[in-house]
Formats: sequence, structure tokens, C-alpha cells
Amino acid sequence: MLKLLIKRGKVIDPSQNLEGVFDLLIEGNRIKRIDREIFEPEAEIIDAEGLVVAPGFVDLHVHFRDPGQTYKEDIESGSRCAVAGGYTTVVCMPNTDPPIDSPWVAEYVILKARCVNLCNVLPAGAITKGRKGRELTDMYSLKEAGCVAFTDDGSPVMDSELMKRALEISAQIGVPVFDHCEDDRIALGSVTSGEVSALTGHGTRPPEAEDVLNARDCILAYHTGGHVHIQHLTTSLGVDIVRHFKDKGAKVTCEVNPYHLILSEEEVFRSGSLARVNPPLRSEEDLKALRSALSDGTVDCVATDHAPHAGFEKGLLGSSMPGMIGLQTALPIMLSLVSEGVITLKKMVELMSTNPARIIGIDRGTLKEGSVADVVIFDPNREWVLNEDTNRSKSKNTPLWNRKLRGKVIYTIKDGRIVHKDN
Ligand code: DOR
Ligand code: ZN
Repeated sequence: MLKLLIKRGKVIDPSQNLEGVFDLLIEGNRIKRIDREIFEPEAEIIDAEGLVVAPGFVDLHVHFRDPGQTYKEDIESGSRCAVAGGYTTVVCMPNTDPPIDSPWVAEYVILKARCVNLCNVLPAGAITKGRKGRELTDMYSLKEAGCVAFTDDGSPVMDSELMKRALEISAQIGVPVFDHCEDDRIALGSVTSGEVSALTGHGTRPPEAEDVLNARDCILAYHTGGHVHIQHLTTSLGVDIVRHFKDKGAKVTCEVNPYHLILSEEEVFRSGSLARVNPPLRSEEDLKALRSALSDGTVDCVATDHAPHAGFEKGLLGSSMPGMIGLQTALPIMLSLVSEGVITLKKMVELMSTNPARIIGIDRGTLKEGSVADVVIFDPNREWVLNEDTNRSKSKNTPLWNRKLRGKVIYTIKDGRIVHKDN
């Protein structure tokens, strides 16, 4: 059996409240032992002195565009990009072509990801057929096929009766319903409301478009007992809404996108259409509220919403497709918040590994002895630039393109096998 011995790394595992310098032994596909000093002559050694060793990251929100739009990304390039960012599990969104609204498309995603064999790629099934918002999919057979969540991401579910029924089914089958909260009768433009919108003359996607659906979903989760997960939360009021319903005992969880923690609406002046994303970049006040909600348990996890688009699709701000690639920039962004003292390193690992794994109920995001050996080893200080040489996505739409980043993944290990090694 293959043995890997990771020596003298700073091991951080919130699932067992562990933080300190340890050796970690992997045997086959499992974590065998964590101890102060381990001797294992047969093992391949990784010297992790000065590096951080944590459970492989879990991203609940990526767009791999496969099937149907593989000129932007596919399951192979997406998986490469994921493991380069330290992710060992990702949940891919169903806004593909055809969408993941039937078991056979879910099975295609699972099988192709297994062939690629780099990252654990789990499909989210659509809530409504064709993501059209009119008729529920067969959530039972989508679950059977391997879907770990349901969402019409890219679009909201506007019909409250459908959302209520989806949450009732969620309560029965124990699979969370994710929602992209933006009321499409209010969210019409490409930037948030306020000064930037006034100056640029672009129509707006105001915070209230997000807040009304966030509140509605929380209310429905409260009444049905279903689990709703609010995707890419961006507003200050949204934080209060989620906090309120958590306090009331509703099954509500939420994610934030790293970009929404560091870039405000003004980024549009610097990056133009590259700064366009749905929901949009918000005000400094919203950023502040999101940042302070990271530590008090209101925000459960960070999710990248890795959304690749081709150059010709970004174009001008008003007509460009929304979204940014994010799998390789998440760690540097989150580490910048650690340096600023917004969160601790342990909290960061909780937000990127422990909690997202818990939300979809998978036995990962932990380094407990006997668990699956999904591990990330990163250098929190290594500086690098995301450019043609380092990018692993097929697309390059991010405001951070060519900017200096701090914090680099050195090894990613999935199921006990090295799937990414920095060179
Ligand atoms: O900006 C976004 N892009 N937000 C979404 O919800 C969808 C995503 C995409 O699919 O490009
Ligand atoms: Zn979305």
C-alpha cells in the first residue's frame, strides 16, 4: 500500500480542533495517523516545514460548463484548475447545455469526472425543468443519480409555491436546496445601485433584489423544515436576515464569494466588464458587514462561483456575461483577510473545508484518523502572479489577472494520491 508521510507541517484541522506542528501519515487512501513525530521508512516523504497542511478545500459553487459550453471550461480543465487552487471536492452548477435536470446528465458529469480522476466533482441538479422556473424536476431520481444539492443557479426560483415544494422535498430526502437570490423583476442592470450606477448610467441590480428572495427562502425553510443554502450572499441586510433565521432555528446556511469580500462596486472603474458578476460587487458598507459575519458563524463557507467566460463574451460592461474565474484566487484572497486580522487561519480552513463538506453531508473536509486522505499543503507567504503560465482554467476572466497574489498551493492530495504539485 502506498504511504505518504508529510513531515513538520503546520497542521490545521478545525473538525478536531487541531492546530500545531505535526507529522501526518497517509496509507492508501486514508489518513493513518497524526503525531508529533512519525517514523515510517517505507513512506514517500513530503517536507512541509513552513507550510500549512489542511483538509482539501471543498467548493460548493463552480461552473465547469460541461456539457455544452466546453470552449469556456470542461470537466478536465476545471478539475485541473480546482486542484491547483487546493480543492479536492467541487459542486458543479447545472446551468450547462443541456442543464443537469435529468439523471443522465448528472451521470455524465460524474462519469467524466471519474475518468479525469483529479478532483471529486459532484453535480447539483436543477430545481426546475430546463431551469425555466415552471415545473419541478424529479428531485428523487436526481438524488439517486448522485446530485448533492439542487439549484437553478444563474437564475432565481421566482415562484414561491415551487420553492416551498422544493424545500418540502428537501426535508424528506435530506438534500439542500441552494438558491441564487435575485428577483429578476428588480435585478435588471449590471452594477449595484448607487454612485457607480449613476455615473456609468448602467441599469441596476440593487441589494433589495437579493434581500427579498433571501428573506422569502429563509421564511420557507423555517416553515417547511427544509434546508435552504443562500448562494453568494452580498448584502449587509442579507447578513441580518440569515442571522435572524439561524437564531430561530431554521435550517439556513449561506456562502460568500471571496471577491465580494475584497472588491467593491468601484472595481468597475478599474476592471470594466471583468468586474461584472451576479449578484454584483456592492458597497464598502456591504463588504464590511460580510467580513464581520465571517467569524460569528453567520457565514458558513466561502464558495468561488468559478464562472469562466471567453474573452468575446466579456466585452463591454453593459452587454458582457456576468462571472469571474475564482478557483486559483480564493486561497490568496482569504489569506489576505487572515493577514489583515479579519479571520484566523483556522477559521479560514473551517470556511473552505470543514463547513462546506458538512453542508452537503460528505465524509470529507477533515483529517481525522481513518478518514479519506484529501489534503492541501500551501505556502501562505509565497508570491505569484495569475497569468498565461500559471492559469489552469480555459478562461481568464478575473480582475486579479496579472496581479501579484500571496499564498500558493504546493501539493494537493486526493484519496491519498498527489493530484497537483507546484513546480
Ligand atoms: O456571475 C455569475 N455567473 N453569477 C451566476 O449566478 C451565474 C454565473 C455564470 O454561470 O456565469
Ligand atoms: Zn449564482
